[in-house]
Amino acid sequence: MSTVQKIHTAVFPVAGLGTRFLPATKAAPKEMLPVVDKPLIQYAVEEAYAAGVRHMVFVTGRSKRAIEDHFDTAYELENELSTAHKDELLALVRSVQPADMVCSYVRQARSLGLGHAVLCAERLVGNEPFAVLLADDLMTGPPGGSGVLSQMVAAFEKMGRSMLAVQEVPADQVRRYGIVAGEPAGRNLIRLEKIVEKPAPEEAPSRMGVAGRYILTPRIFQEIRNQPTGVGGEIQLTDAISRLLAHEAVYAFQYEGKRYDCGSKEGFLEATVELALQHPQVGAHFRDYLRSLTL
Ligand code: UTP
Repeated sequence: MSTVQKIHTAVFPVAGLGTRFLPATKAAPKEMLPVVDKPLIQYAVEEAYAAGVRHMVFVTGRSKRAIEDHFDTAYELENELSTAHKDELLALVRSVQPADMVCSYVRQARSLGLGHAVLCAERLVGNEPFAVLLADDLMTGPPGGSGVLSQMVAAFEKMGRSMLAVQEVPADQVRRYGIVAGEPAGRNLIRLEKIVEKPAPEEAPSRMGVAGRYILTPRIFQEIRNQPTGVGGEIQLTDAISRLLAHEAVYAFQYEGKRYDCGSKEGFLEATVELALQHPQVGAHFRDYLRSLTL
């Protein structure tokens, strides 16, 4: 009987240019934009940690130093807070980097695409299945329920196959997504037959769009290495997944929860409003404030 493989490592490709959010992203990483009081990347890292992942691999690029600093010890700040007996703040700052979490960094010298960014992490991942989280997709689980990556890890532990998070998207938006088609394979699962990157609406095989959470088997590295460039002249992860299908079963996973596309201004604003309303400190005040507005 085959043993269940655990997911030890999560890859965070954070080397994109973030052009949709200029000028905010001219010198600062888009993944450091805060939603209420936490940067986007911290939401994604916390989601991975909650799913049992302890090794976080960041694929970084130029102007991304702030991400490394965020997950490092802030020695001077901690010293100041400790001397001033600001214990709650000190605990908050330290909680960003739990003692059993290990962070590794690798640079993607040029933005050659998401597939290429994932390939940059190969040596740090090794020959085992791993998760990929795109931090600009902020994902929340159902109220009181598990996070999206935790749901996927549970499904992976049963199936042992690559999994892509999917959701139904409006017909006029299929052009923005990797779109999948396949056969229903039990609760929340579709066995993939096809995946295409950013299709025109008339060519889309369905309206099931890939969201920024993946669990991939290590064979994906070989597929990325051997593929030509795809849509937009980039080395696309979607193309590598399509090639993987020739060798292994791949599943689309219909997650429970919500996704905010924080790479776009609209999605970022929606996340900010909804998460502010749920925030234990500012939620009640913010609700009153919104009610007071004449819209
Ligand atoms: P996006 O398509 O959102 O690209 O990449 P982007 O460059 O970040 O943003 P826009 O579209 O110009 O506004 C999806 C994810 O893949 C990463 C990005 O950081 C993002 O998390 N990525 C993309 C890389 O790490 N390297 C790349 O070469 C491309």
